[in-house]
Amino acid sequence: MFKHLAAAQPDPILSLSVAFREDMREEKVDLGIGVYRNDQGITPVMQAVQQAQQRVMDNETTKGYVGLAGNEQFNQAMMDLLLSGTSAHARAAAVQTPGASGALRMLADLMYIAQPETTVWITNPSYVNHKPVMEAAGLKVCYYPYFNPVTKQVDSEAMLAELAKAGPKDVVLLHGCCHNPTGADITFEDWQTITAMANKQGFMPFVDIAYQGFGDGLEQDAAGLRYMADNVEEMIVATSCSKNFGLYRERTGAAMVISDTLTNAQKAKGRILNLARSTYTMPPDHGAALVATILGDDALTQTWKQELSAMNQRLLGLRTGLVQAVQKQGSTQFDFIQQHKGMFSVTGLSPEQIGRLRDEFAIYAVGDGRINIAGLQEQQLDYLANALLSVSK
Ligand code: LMR
Repeated sequence: MFKHLAAAQPDPILSLSVAFREDMREEKVDLGIGVYRNDQGITPVMQAVQQAQQRVMDNETTKGYVGLAGNEQFNQAMMDLLLSGTSAHARAAAVQTPGASGALRMLADLMYIAQPETTVWITNPSYVNHKPVMEAAGLKVCYYPYFNPVTKQVDSEAMLAELAKAGPKDVVLLHGCCHNPTGADITFEDWQTITAMANKQGFMPFVDIAYQGFGDGLEQDAAGLRYMADNVEEMIVATSCSKNFGLYRERTGAAMVISDTLTNAQKAKGRILNLARSTYTMPPDHGAALVATILGDDALTQTWKQELSAMNQRLLGLRTGLVQAVQKQGSTQFDFIQQHKGMFSVTGLSPEQIGRLRDEFAIYAVGDGRINIAGLQEQQLDYLANALLSVSK
């Protein structure tokens, strides 16, 4: 049955981690997959997570099944984290999923059963897995202009002009904050404009928010999403605890539906549970149990917020440090990195130049030119600055 299959295409992000591990050069730098590392190059288990883990272990009496929706306390906590202070909270429902990828897929499957002719509009460029996940669910995908490669910022005018063509059969996928891969975010004014367009033109917004807390702060990073949620009838959200709780391998995320009424949101949730049953049945418990423990305890929440903020401060310091390291070598070519938000920046380097970074400097970055600033160590800044300038000549 399988011998006629074409060989699998390597994943543009995950394949880098494998190649990096196999690289024996001492000076190697991994700026591929989106993970935070400390200055020792380690992705730490956060203190709040360690403490929660102890509590979960001490109190766990069974490994019995939890249920199709996963941990309901977690689901509630994720709605609080994202929708706190909104009226939309009262007409929202959430399902725990295996990571945000699981949420993207469940929501895509939900859209397919509700409206198979849906086209999902995604930013150009977007997270490399957006298109494959939407298409795997049977949906059509198109790109809308987003990033201006010259200014390295969002091309708001071109984006809004294209979105003006979206209609009732369309879904517009937005990044809640810390755009992946570019690091260029839309403004609050853009959120307001797109909200008004959704209401006028009839398309549904779909927000993927995987980096809350890595931009301007936990509350600020959700401001656009919250405004939109309060002002549209229907919206869907995929969210992740991989980055802001450092729970990458635990696959902890949630799919959320905001509808005109709580009854309709819960009906959509019920359909997601059917879809989950025929896909993976239930999400893994551990990560969600940890997040529910942290967010259900004031002291642990405080610890977590402080750690997250410290991680973010370090990331901002790395952005400044990299820009200064390049400036020290006499160039302002990468000054834009300072303006970007979150873990990533698109450098503007071509796939060929990214290849040279890997071959000549053992620096691993995604072929689309994305670098993961959060993966850097202070002592690598001069080396990276030199490499960026060398391949840019
Ligand atoms: C990334 O973009 O590097 C992360 O979101 C990891 C992933 O799942 O692709």
